[in-house]
Amino acid sequence: MKRIGVLTSGGDAPGMNAAIRAVVRTALYKGMEVLGIRRGYNGLLNGDVFEMNARSVSSIIQRGGTLLFTARCLEFKQEAGVQKAVQSCHDLGIEGLVVIGGDGSYRGAGDLSRHGIPCIGLPGTIDNDISSTDFTIGYDTAMNTVMELVDKLRDTSHSHDRCSVVEVMGRGAGYIAVNTALACGAVEVLCPEKPYDLSSIIEKMQASRKLGKQNFIIVVAEGIGHSQEIAKEIEEKTGIDSRATILGHVQRGGSPTVRDRVLASRMGNYAVNLLEQGVGNRVVGVRGDKLVDYDIQEALQMKKPFDDDLYDLTQIISI
Ligand code: ADP
Ligand code: F6P
Repeated sequence: MKRIGVLTSGGDAPGMNAAIRAVVRTALYKGMEVLGIRRGYNGLLNGDVFEMNARSVSSIIQRGGTLLFTARCLEFKQEAGVQKAVQSCHDLGIEGLVVIGGDGSYRGAGDLSRHGIPCIGLPGTIDNDISSTDFTIGYDTAMNTVMELVDKLRDTSHSHDRCSVVEVMGRGAGYIAVNTALACGAVEVLCPEKPYDLSSIIEKMQASRKLGKQNFIIVVAEGIGHSQEIAKEIEEKTGIDSRATILGHVQRGGSPTVRDRVLASRMGNYAVNLLEQGVGNRVVGVRGDKLVDYDIQEALQMKKPFDDDLYDLTQIISI
């Protein structure tokens, strides 16, 4: 392959820049040209691309967000949009494409691959909700951000003998919620994978209070939501002053952690190696510490297990 493209799509995630950098530098090392495509699939449809060189990715490994910008592109979900993107690849001389994003972006990469443009998907999302990998790019950074923020909430919660109900991102998944609940010593975690009963949580809080516990952290995954109502009900039933905090998009920003920078760099390099061999319609993942790749359709069918032991641990050690 002489020329490849790279784009970021869906929600941004810290470490996307490190992945772009690795794609660009690996391609240049192999004598390929790289076109940066702006704003996800929109850039392909509109020809919003630019040639990247080694300096285009200088000083970005430490930056959150994505220098290529990202977007959701409805037009690309239609067959006509895919056809237009294929034509655009031909016009621009793009012979292979690296797509950094989530499941939705993978579907688009599958569509393009079916039309003869070999694509490699890299998992870029803070949610860790991609089954074909143990870890996604951005997840570790987002969890560390949540941990820092919840630690700050605990300071004020502790000083006022309050209950803090903290809502964290994750779309329909509770991976960020469970891990950060454990890391922050939350008394409870509410996540979509597990049924919950607010009255038993309230009983648990009352029992803990009798044992001298004065402040509480409850982590709520956004897939559960209703954190304001939950805080209100807790306050009414326990008499404990309660506040809800929705952490929001601050969780998506910030400088990527070592783990995310290393994972993104390895995956970006791996993707270009696949394209160099003429391989397409694959997504890259990590299993244990080993990089792997799967057929896109196969990857989209996979189910990601929920770590019940980790969830149980949050229950055992929070009293
Ligand atoms: P993510 O990639 O993070 O899951 P989205 O679901 O928003 O984010 O998808 C990102 C983009 O991928 C969409 O805006 C669209 O352009 C493309 N996409 C999503 N779903 C499909 C689909 N079923 N077929 C083709 N392209 C899709
Ligand atoms: O997928 C990443 C994510 O931040 C989810 O956790 C959240 O549900 C969603 O994106 C928010 O999307 P938007 O940026 O469109 O508000």
